[in-house]
Amino acid sequence: MHTSKYFVTGGAGFIGSNLVDRLLLQGNEVTVYDNFSTGIPEYLEAAKHKDGFRLINGDTQDIEKMTASMSGCDFVFHLAANADVRFGTEHPAKDLHQNTIATFNVLEAMRKNSINKIAFSSTGSVYGEAKVIPTPEDAPFPVQTSLYGASKLAGEGLIAAYCEGFGFQGWIFRFVSILGERYPHGHVFDFYKQLRAHPDHLDVLGNGHQKKSYLYVQDCINAIFTAIEKSQDKVNLFNLGTDEYCEVKDSIARICSYLDLKPDIRYTGGDRGWIGDNPFIFLDCKKIRSLGWKPEYTIHEGIVKTLEFLEDNPWLLERRS
Ligand SMILES: NC(=O)c1ccc[n+]([C@@H]2O[C@H](COP(=O)([O-])OP(=O)(O)OC[C@H]3O[C@@H](n4cnc5c(N)ncnc54)[C@H](O)[C@@H]3O)[C@@H](O)[C@H]2O)c1
Repeated sequence: MHTSKYFVTGGAGFIGSNLVDRLLLQGNEVTVYDNFSTGIPEYLEAAKHKDGFRLINGDTQDIEKMTASMSGCDFVFHLAANADVRFGTEHPAKDLHQNTIATFNVLEAMRKNSINKIAFSSTGSVYGEAKVIPTPEDAPFPVQTSLYGASKLAGEGLIAAYCEGFGFQGWIFRFVSILGERYPHGHVFDFYKQLRAHPDHLDVLGNGHQKKSYLYVQDCINAIFTAIEKSQDKVNLFNLGTDEYCEVKDSIARICSYLDLKPDIRYTGGDRGWIGDNPFIFLDCKKIRSLGWKPEYTIHEGIVKTLEFLEDNPWLLERRS
């Protein structure tokens, strides 16, 4: 990509901080805008010492501060969100405010600053329980099964409408679950944390047969860069995932083998772990593949890289407890 002045919401998070490091490595200027609700200051330790880096502790709900902070930038990566799918029904307004309204606020701040390029982290959860698997970008209009998915789909809709109405250009990425360095939430983290606390048993939501696809974080970032460089439509929509999936039971086996443990595995039962859990997520990624991108790591390698990171950073377990 050409060097630019990037504004990254959620740049202190798992995916955001990895993206920020890559953007700085390419010689770009980067402003991170993050309220540290789930962001981790240590993730920006290396970035802080690089030329062209700026950190603003701010909230996407604070439209005035965000508008002022965006001044001088020319491209926005909007990653800040409530990224937790599971607890949506416990606080129904959270996804609306943190995901949908936040996206509207980002778009308005861009409009006021005459910035018209945005990349957005959406999710495979927008497909609900898809009828077509692997699920392509143009799958039949999906029925929503989670407040998170619904709030992200609404964000996608706003971005597309700003592209049409205000001459914006948007890149929308529907990710499968992402794994790798700095991974601080999701099933590998939960299982690892449990096994470190009580190595003799593991509690698992559902029956373990849920089928999921995962993508290693650096592969995800490579795909984002490829799409931004090579796809120049008004609205550029891409699934990002691997050509494989695994059952939750398979990833448990890999985690246990890595930790050399044989715990008693206790399943809560049922084919879903929680309300809105999709028992089968597998995205068709031919569109991004056709641009020449392919993942360099398998799901198994992504799990191992995640575990290596967690082993090297025991403080993260404390932080997330
Ligand atoms: N991790 C995944 O597997 C995955 C899968 C699909 C989509 N996504 C999406 O990718 C993005 C990044 O996810 P992640 O896993 O890095 O999550 P994360 O929780 O690690 O990062 C989110 C970041 O946004 C910040 N943030 C949250 N609310 C904010 C607000 N109101 N104002 C300012 N900053 C705020 C947090 O402090 C955090 O740094 C999210 O939009 C998420 O929905 C993630």
